[in-house]
Amino acid sequence: MRAVVIRRFGGAGVFGVESVPEPAVAAGESLVDVAVAGVNFADLSHRTGVPARPLPAVLGAEIAGVRRSDGRRVAALLREGGGYAEVAAVRDAHAVVIPDGIDDLQAAALLEQGGTAYAALTAAGRIRPGESVVVTAAAGGVGHLAVQVAKALGAGPVVGIASTGPKRAFVASLGADVTFDPASPGLAEEVREATHGGADLVIDTVGGPLMRAALRFLRPFGRVVSVGSRYPGPDQLSIDDDLGVPSVGVFGFWMRHVIEDRALYEKVTGEVFGMALRGEIVAAVDRVVTMHEIGAAHEAMAARETTGKVLVDVRRTWAGQ
Ligand SMILES: NC(=O)c1ccc[n+]([C@@H]2O[C@H](COP(=O)([O-])OP(=O)(O)OC[C@H]3O[C@@H](n4cnc5c(N)ncnc54)[C@H](OP(=O)(O)O)[C@@H]3O)[C@@H](O)[C@H]2O)c1
Repeated sequence: MRAVVIRRFGGAGVFGVESVPEPAVAAGESLVDVAVAGVNFADLSHRTGVPARPLPAVLGAEIAGVRRSDGRRVAALLREGGGYAEVAAVRDAHAVVIPDGIDDLQAAALLEQGGTAYAALTAAGRIRPGESVVVTAAAGGVGHLAVQVAKALGAGPVVGIASTGPKRAFVASLGADVTFDPASPGLAEEVREATHGGADLVIDTVGGPLMRAALRFLRPFGRVVSVGSRYPGPDQLSIDDDLGVPSVGVFGFWMRHVIEDRALYEKVTGEVFGMALRGEIVAAVDRVVTMHEIGAAHEAMAARETTGKVLVDVRRTWAGQ
């Protein structure tokens, strides 16, 4: 089979398409012929060796394709990578059957980021209908789905934060009631006003200064769900000053705890696919690249050029050959 292999950690030039043996399958795993692989922000960090994996490595944590054992279309998350390839070994517990009516591109686009958006709002954020929700990086892969899922769950108002005019226009087109620039000096006041006194729930995929700002635009008993941070290292929040005095909370979130709980994983993916089938959410696909173009796709994500989801059409790479 052909796969996109890295033989050293580094920049976006480390990828090379190679012929390699198909992956070995362990007990509880199945081989899947990959149609589409998702590109996730975490792949950029894995590419640079954070955390380091044995080399050579095939990255890619999310696929849609056909399971060889039963011929069914499945979507799966791959904890150890292996998705940027024609064939992937998938843990049966981490695969879900794709409903008719959802194509492979949508399935791959919805699985990790849609699942994260849904579970961050519900399992972590405990959203209630009518609550105000703020989504940071609201034009991003997770963010643009969090805006739509929040609306579908009856939130209101929903505020999207994004760094450029075109991104904010995109976020508004998804149903956000109001959008703001993260660089606005009056951001906290603007959000408090838009949410009639302070937000109930913030879904944050940026961290650092924006997370600190979020603590200032929550209402008492509001909470931030921290999904990702560009600012590794100690955040040095003061329990008393930052959380106690304003009566707010911060909830961490990692999708791994959804995939490791089969019942929760089925619920989350079932709800996300159900919302997509009802037309309540749609994964906006920024670009679909071939296996030869993954490095350029990584560069675009790192440069904040993408809105919505970046996908690899594995089958198209070899169409006509
Ligand atoms: N906890 C989990 O289980 C989980 C699951 C999925 C994703 N995540 C994490 O969530 C974060 C977002 O993922 P995603 O897939 O939505 O990524 P994405 O599509 O690449 O979107 C990220 C957005 O973050 C904003 N941003 C702010 N500062 C940035 C910087 N210094 N460099 C790059 N982007 C910056 C950009 O929007 P603006 O230009 O509008 O600021 C960018 O478009 C990542 O950290 C990812 O690892 C976590």
